[in-house]
Amino acid sequence: MIQEAKHLIESRTVIRPSIAVVLGSGLGAFADELVDQVAIPYSSLPGWPVSTAIGHAGKLVIGKLGNLDLAVMAGRAHLYEGNTPAQVVYGVRVLHSLGVRSIVFTNAAGGINLALERGGLVLISDHINLQCCNPLVGPNDDSLGPRFPDMSEAYSREYREIARQVAAELGIPISEGVYAAMLGPCYETPAEIRYLRTIGADVVGMSTVVETIAANHMGMKVLGISCVTNMAAGILPQKIHHEEVLEAGAMVRDTLVRLLKALLPRLVEQGDGGLQSAG
Ligand code: HPA
Repeated sequence: MIQEAKHLIESRTVIRPSIAVVLGSGLGAFADELVDQVAIPYSSLPGWPVSTAIGHAGKLVIGKLGNLDLAVMAGRAHLYEGNTPAQVVYGVRVLHSLGVRSIVFTNAAGGINLALERGGLVLISDHINLQCCNPLVGPNDDSLGPRFPDMSEAYSREYREIARQVAAELGIPISEGVYAAMLGPCYETPAEIRYLRTIGADVVGMSTVVETIAANHMGMKVLGISCVTNMAAGILPQKIHHEEVLEAGAMVRDTLVRLLKALLPRLVEQGDGGLQSAG
């Protein structure tokens, strides 16, 4: 299946990206920035799970950002939609087969750390997997990566440093914190948020972690950026609505586009992303 999807994509464009961005809820606008782009709906890619979440476009866009060859996943599959972990990481596996070696995951997240504010950006320094599943369970494909992959730097320290630097140059405030991944689809209870704060989480969401595990297993370098779309349950005296999550995504969209446009070329210059893969 992966090979079929790879060949279909390669037949549609001559652009061969070594870096990709995955856009979270309400953050799909960045895909419009690509020129010479081909947009392939997930529904026409063999094996690719179709995203049903509102606010997710559901297409793979390959094009150029300035001189940079780039792949953008506008929309992603979530576990809470009923997808298996293998389905959730399918897109990342196809991107890897295309030669992508650097990947930036963006997501919408609830702010747990009281120093955070709605509309703020957070670089993910690490994660806590509370989704009770792992995409590497089952026989290991030794050609992709080791049986027991190291996760002590799941989110590249070098990429985080570059991101902090680029954000500072652009005057964009950005903090850094630990992302806790919950299965969803309900938002957390206030007691769960107090628990997550106690165990060291700064933001909470329902995505990114299984993809980051699969990407690390395959030796890809990962950067994660959370957009704080709401303060987590129980912090403010109001309920959480998906609409406010999408609204905040729209608020931060322009800032995120500005950051990504400056940041992505710098990641490729600095990191392994600049090397073309053999496979
Ligand atoms: N919790 C979990 N996922 C989320 C949240 C939240 O508060 N906001 C956006 N995604």
